[in-house]
Amino acid sequence: MAAVIQTRLLLRKVKDLRCLTPRRTRVKGKWATTQPKSPPTSLALQYMDATYSLQLGQQWPSVRVSLLCEKKYGALLNNFSHESALADLQAQGCMDFIGHTDQDAQPFLDEASGGEPEGSMEQEISSSVSLNKSDSVDEELSPLQLSPNIKCLVFPRGDITRFKAARPDGFGLLSYYLMDAASVLPCLALNVQQGDSVLDLCAAPGGKTLALLQTQTIRFLCVNDASVSRTMRLRKVLHSYIPKELLTNDRIRITSFDGTKWGEIERNTFDRVLVDVPCTTDRHSLMEDDNNIFKKSRTSERRQLPQLQTELLLAGVEAACPGGEIVYSTCSLSQLQNQCVVEQAIHLARERHGIHLQVVSLRPLTHTFRKTFHFAPDLHLGEMVLPHLAANFGPIYMCKLRRLN
Ligand SMILES: C[S@@+](CC[C@H](N)C(=O)[O-])C[C@H]1O[C@@H](n2cnc3c(N)ncnc32)[C@H](O)[C@@H]1O
Repeated sequence: MAAVIQTRLLLRKVKDLRCLTPRRTRVKGKWATTQPKSPPTSLALQYMDATYSLQLGQQWPSVRVSLLCEKKYGALLNNFSHESALADLQAQGCMDFIGHTDQDAQPFLDEASGGEPEGSMEQEISSSVSLNKSDSVDEELSPLQLSPNIKCLVFPRGDITRFKAARPDGFGLLSYYLMDAASVLPCLALNVQQGDSVLDLCAAPGGKTLALLQTQTIRFLCVNDASVSRTMRLRKVLHSYIPKELLTNDRIRITSFDGTKWGEIERNTFDRVLVDVPCTTDRHSLMEDDNNIFKKSRTSERRQLPQLQTELLLAGVEAACPGGEIVYSTCSLSQLQNQCVVEQAIHLARERHGIHLQVVSLRPLTHTFRKTFHFAPDLHLGEMVLPHLAANFGPIYMCKLRRLN
């Protein structure tokens, strides 16, 4: 009896509360007919649970929870801004993870060379040292060179403070660009040298282009993206960060071509090529229903991604000059979109174009930044930043190739 009275009182309370809420502000749930039974974010999670639990094993629950939590940003400093934000960001507790590298990195190289002094190791490895990571590809290990001009500030491990929006200087240029700090790694891996010509094949909205430009060593940069609207966004980003006098056609060319056709336009040209391909953007796909590649209507587009990615990487390889270097990257954990694409492209480059490629080890890079990022252990090809609650960056996959002919 007491329970019945309690329930009645509760129901009356709810009714009273409803009366207090004006009718126009009451929220009605969407009609069952218009609300998708399985929103794309749920489909993405189902797909990832099925595939990544097999791929990552015991690591998947930790990666999964990190992917479903708020991601962490880094502030890429803009050297072209007249107001440096460095001191201000440092005062807030941030640290440049690139400048503040781990001094233990070189001993790693010594270990890999069997304790040889650095100079002799370089000779030895240039004849392609196998690190036994894979049966099918030889890897080359080179000493790590980092551009002193790329600076990216992050809050310490476990600190999830958000960055304030950057302010424009007197010339309208912003002092930093907020991006996933792990996205800077493919640009560092590209190791741009003084006077290089560089192609950024899938460049919009332009975070990695900005990081590449910070090196201030590029002679000519070609930035391309197949999407016209995204290329417009890229232009806006460049105008917000780079002085007008540097955005001239003889220094920076902005195009909107289908990157898979690049080999038909310009072959054997660039010293460095970045191929940052469209992918399942795992973090976005788990968090946002809008523009989600796991939408039922985009199933065939999603299934064709590995083919598109392979064609883009092959086009990037053709665009590089002999001796040139190519970095392939995605923001997905998928083996099908990562290692399988690279293996297929290495095979097709040889079969179709007679181009021989060497995989360049990124172990010195991951070793150097192992305190900032959580890297996947023992990937057989390339390297991967795994999201982790204490360092919630990534996922970012990257693999570096060198054209031998
Ligand atoms: C991962 S996003 C690139 C992000 C960019 N690199 C950055 O750091 O801001 C992939 C881009 O590839 C572009 N894309 C898709 N298909 C392409 C194609 N066939 N050729 C060139 N770009 C393409 C998309 O429009 C998208 O902007």
